[in-house]
Amino acid sequence: MEYLTLAIATGRTSKKAMALLEESGISFPDYHKKTRKLVIYDETKTVKLIFVKTADLTTYVEKGAADIGIIGKDTIMEEQPDVYELLDLNLGKCQLVVAGFPNQKMQSEAPLIVATKYPLITKSFFDEKGIRIETIKLNGSIELAPLIGLSNVIVDIVETGTTLNENGLVQLDKIIDISARLIVNKASFATKTEQIGQFITKLKAILE
Ligand code: PRP
Repeated sequence: MEYLTLAIATGRTSKKAMALLEESGISFPDYHKKTRKLVIYDETKTVKLIFVKTADLTTYVEKGAADIGIIGKDTIMEEQPDVYELLDLNLGKCQLVVAGFPNQKMQSEAPLIVATKYPLITKSFFDEKGIRIETIKLNGSIELAPLIGLSNVIVDIVETGTTLNENGLVQLDKIIDISARLIVNKASFATKTEQIGQFITKLKAILE
């Protein structure tokens, strides 16, 4: 049988995703939290797991280099990949919010300057509110932008709230709740229907 290739993003949700797989009876003997291996196999040698950067994950699945992937709803919304989103895995829960200094006004004559990893989501959120903005695309440490005067506010992920708190920032508005989703390559869904179906059934049994 051909392998089912599963892409998981390195980073904060990868350990939770690995725990969910283990609970579902899909275990990877070579996996340990500090592993630097990029490709590992499950014990039945039917699932090949690859570790990729979050920003690259949808590319692997969209192009069919991976059949399935686990990725946050935030990335799906921003990148709008041409894949199927089949399951909410209920892990990596956080919120996408607008944050800034407590006294920050959203409406003024000049456009609001917003730093974010998510320019598309940001534009559509503020367009809907009728607020004119200028977006500054950053790749990390977004909270720094208002602190040093690069932006008025940020649009970013909040999980525990620690990063905002420690930097004197507060949530000004909520955009959406986020969790990790299972995405599937469209061609793989047609050619590996049974394998993908079995994989999803195992995960669902735990999620329900
Ligand atoms: C994310 C996010 C916030 C932080 C929020 O950054 O961009 O900075 O986590 O988490 P908290 O509410 O629990 O403090 P990440 O750690 O992924 O790194 P990055 O800043 O390099 O994107």
